[in-house]
Amino acid sequence: MTDTTSPRHVGTTSDEEEAAYLEVALTDTQPDHAPRPAHALAPEPAVRETVLVLDYGSQYTRLIARRIRECHVYCEILPPTTPWAEIAARRPKGIVLSGGPASVYDPGAPSAPNELWRSGIPVLGVCYGMGLLARGFGGEMARMERREYGPATIEVEPPTALTPQPPLPDAGEGETLAAGVGEGETLDAGVGEGETLDAGVGERKAPGNQRDEGETPLYVGRLPSPAHGRGVGGEGIFTGLPASIPVWMSHGDSLARLPEGFRVLARTPNSIAAIGDDAGHVGLQFHPEVVHTTGGLTIIDNFLKRLCGCAGTWTPANVVDESVARIKEQVGAGHVICALSGGVDSAVAATLIARAIGDQLTCVFVDNGLLRHDEAKQLMDTFEQHLHIPVVHVDASERFLTRLAGVEDPEEKRRIIGHEFIAVFAAEAQRLREEGTEIDFLAQGTLYPDVIESAGHDTVNAARIKTHHNVGGLPEDLPFTLVEPLRYLFKDEVRLVGTALGLPERMVYRQPFPGPGLAIRVIGPISKERLDTLRAADAIVVDEVRKAGLYRALWQSFAILTPIKSVGVMGDGRTYHDVVAVRAVTSDDAMTADWARLPYDVLAAISNRIVNEVPGVNRVVYDISSKPPSTIEWE
Ligand code: XMP
Repeated sequence: MTDTTSPRHVGTTSDEEEAAYLEVALTDTQPDHAPRPAHALAPEPAVRETVLVLDYGSQYTRLIARRIRECHVYCEILPPTTPWAEIAARRPKGIVLSGGPASVYDPGAPSAPNELWRSGIPVLGVCYGMGLLARGFGGEMARMERREYGPATIEVEPPTALTPQPPLPDAGEGETLAAGVGEGETLDAGVGEGETLDAGVGERKAPGNQRDEGETPLYVGRLPSPAHGRGVGGEGIFTGLPASIPVWMSHGDSLARLPEGFRVLARTPNSIAAIGDDAGHVGLQFHPEVVHTTGGLTIIDNFLKRLCGCAGTWTPANVVDESVARIKEQVGAGHVICALSGGVDSAVAATLIARAIGDQLTCVFVDNGLLRHDEAKQLMDTFEQHLHIPVVHVDASERFLTRLAGVEDPEEKRRIIGHEFIAVFAAEAQRLREEGTEIDFLAQGTLYPDVIESAGHDTVNAARIKTHHNVGGLPEDLPFTLVEPLRYLFKDEVRLVGTALGLPERMVYRQPFPGPGLAIRVIGPISKERLDTLRAADAIVVDEVRKAGLYRALWQSFAILTPIKSVGVMGDGRTYHDVVAVRAVTSDDAMTADWARLPYDVLAAISNRIVNEVPGVNRVVYDISSKPPSTIEWE
């Protein structure tokens, strides 16, 4: 166990780690004589209703993107330096300019492309983005004497025309791509300040449902302006909301002169909080994307549906159809290999690919003998019997255990497991080739956050080091093409797509599980017996947590087999047996974590069952350490 900046301390599932091993394995075994397609990214998605977010470095930029997708509109985050031609090529229905730490008057402060102001595309400028918008249209900002930061209440200006709004068509039928929070999730209800704001996403109501009956009369925006024919004037941004709205402010500049054609839409006692014009350009001095802004999702929904004219068709079912079409187009008659880890990313990626190209996909499951109780069987059953996707099951547990015998050092355990995985997978790929299957593509469960980070404009998570870097660095020019069906999805969207594909809840909402599996939860040397003991205890922890309805509220919950023996009594005899530790944490991203305040009766049930049902264990302890300074795993 080391400091929290060590490369292994990354919020990740085994999928990511395995993906890295895979690339190494395939690269190693690629025969020299066989020219393979160049390493290339999957083609851009087919034209779809898209909104772009230009990222000026706010810690909330991703949250804006998430909120837009919650409104069923596909959205991408781009750096503000993106050439206008690339922006225009995506045919955005709207553009959001995010907040950012700079002042628009700072020397070298990032700007927006000039073409944007002439493009006729609706723009929502948030905080820093509002400054850019105001200046872009000829207004002026001024530094405030005192920065406004934190909660405030805005008063929406009386509308220029009190005409009732026609209801918008209900485009987002059925399940949304919003971050789902399961039933019984009572832990972690509190939303702290700063970065943890997005934890409260599940508490939000659906757009349009946020009115508290009997309260302040609803603000009614204007009817569509015939001038631009796209939606309504800027006032439409507040449609469906009361005239007084609690918001989350964060700005150091404020509007000093309105641009021509713009009106003030809302104020705080100190400043102008919102401006807009008739052409769908709106600036907000507050953050609609954070949960502290009541009705923030409605504001974003209004921008998308009323000002941009989006229909809102980005739903899991559509994502599946679109991904299947893209995979078909990319792969053609080629062959794809995909490793299943038991995690959700690889399972969803494989299922999408199988749906697209059927038996041109070979799934390989390397069973390292380090998975939890029944997991390997469940994985095989799900794929073969439920989804009818054949999987090559390589039972390499003996091999892994032999290599791990006597090893105590956790980093050495990790190295061995990574190395063995590569060796086993490479041998399997080689065997397939010898049987006549040329492998053209490697499936990867890359997610959108990885894409944003690798695009080099992510400011929030720039300090994160990906698990890939654990494996010793990947070759730049991989000799095969990647198929990355999840590269436009956030994790919670992957889960919804998994559900839409018919994957079982158990797999889709599995808690993160480390690539080295139970090897780093049997503290000290590993043996089959100790793994079996841990597996039995761990199954009880998971079972009781599930029964209490807490599984999805917890980031992780598991058992650890400590190297300690302690004295106990059983019947008339004295025992000297193992101590099992129980760990349950809440977290947003595994970078920090808090020990979960599990109810005493849940802890009691776990403890009673473990000492009664698991031979060789006579004591159970609960880990009450937070990260930092502890870590989630014990090794
Ligand atoms: P720690 O123990 O560093 O864990 O607080 C943070 C998150 O990362 C997972 N973890 C790993 N995942 N390979 C992985 O794929 C690893 O070697 C590894 N070590 C820790 C851990 O389960 C938690 O979610």
